[in-house]
Amino acid sequence: MTTRTLSQLSVPIISAPMAGGPSTPELAAAVTRAGGLGMLAGALLDMETFADQIDSLRELTFGVNLFLPDDPTGADVDAYAHTLAPWFRKFDVSPGDMPRRDDRYWEKFAWLVEHPVPLVTSTFGTFDAAETEALHQVGTEVWCTVTSGAEAMEADAAGVDALIVQGPEAGGHRGSFDGSAPEVSLIDLLADVRSASDLPRIAAGGLMDGHDIAPLLAGGSAHAAQLGTAFLDTHEAGTRPVHREQLTANPETAVTRAFSGRPARGLVNEFMRTFGADAPLAYPDVHYLTAPMRAKAGAAGDPSALSMWAGTGHSRARNAAASELMAEWAQQLGR
Ligand SMILES: Cc1cc2nc3c(=O)[nH]c(=O)nc-3n(C[C@H](O)[C@H](O)[C@H](O)COP(=O)(O)O)c2cc1C
Repeated sequence: MTTRTLSQLSVPIISAPMAGGPSTPELAAAVTRAGGLGMLAGALLDMETFADQIDSLRELTFGVNLFLPDDPTGADVDAYAHTLAPWFRKFDVSPGDMPRRDDRYWEKFAWLVEHPVPLVTSTFGTFDAAETEALHQVGTEVWCTVTSGAEAMEADAAGVDALIVQGPEAGGHRGSFDGSAPEVSLIDLLADVRSASDLPRIAAGGLMDGHDIAPLLAGGSAHAAQLGTAFLDTHEAGTRPVHREQLTANPETAVTRAFSGRPARGLVNEFMRTFGADAPLAYPDVHYLTAPMRAKAGAAGDPSALSMWAGTGHSRARNAAASELMAEWAQQLGR
């Protein structure tokens, strides 16, 4: 089984959407031009930037990812804010305000229906049947990020076209619908999802080159792969310099809620070590709470209080043009 978008790929590699800066239209364009598929991260963008980034890619095939809004959990964010106060003082910032809870999800969704794109993917949940149908009506393909067989069944029932199967090795936020962090390894998860649904599977998590991807394709575990960390240090990515440096300098990643209120894998630093155990499940409240501190740390090149999302393969990330890496990986895949 395949989809229109997957069947057009000459190299079955998708650049992951990476919200917060690393994803750029330049990176997406380079990956599509190299025979793969470039993704834009629609989350955490204002409407103008969202529309501008998408419109700049209109001549190419690409996809747009959205975070589905989270339900308020009632977790005690004020108590966590109190715990973080010494760090806010250290960086001379106030606790961040929450501009809104929904990341303009409904506005972004309506815009995508009015200005159709080739592919839309969801993270933190599945589009429901009506939303999936609305995208299909305007010719848009729909994929959903899943982290368990149960989530795969739910997305399949909503009518999506393919599943991005994200293992715990993945950098960035776990895409689980309920904010959990399932630990089933990518290879076992692909098997679980295969038993739960016949939809095509795009494997994600810890894959750093063609050699990592080849066995998944050969054994029928996956139909394509979505790579994030492997693109973080490319010339076209918008990754901060300190994050790039830490990819190879820092030996360790871990999953934490400390920065955003949802489990995400990143390079371990002092902030994560200090607050890893205390952070509530409260996305995006915690994301906005820590935003001014992270921005100041990032601007100062201080890795101690910055979220530096990365997968378990981070030490193999390479500083190169995306086209160069794609050509090498295509060769490793025999394409
Ligand atoms: C810096 C960074 C930001 C990410 N942002 C997003 C995002 O906006 N949407 C999303 O669906 N996944 C996001 N992810 C997760 C990726 O889609 C993908 O699951 C992950 O990168 C795969 O694992 P890898 O990093 O080991 O390749 C992000 C990953 C990283 C490293």
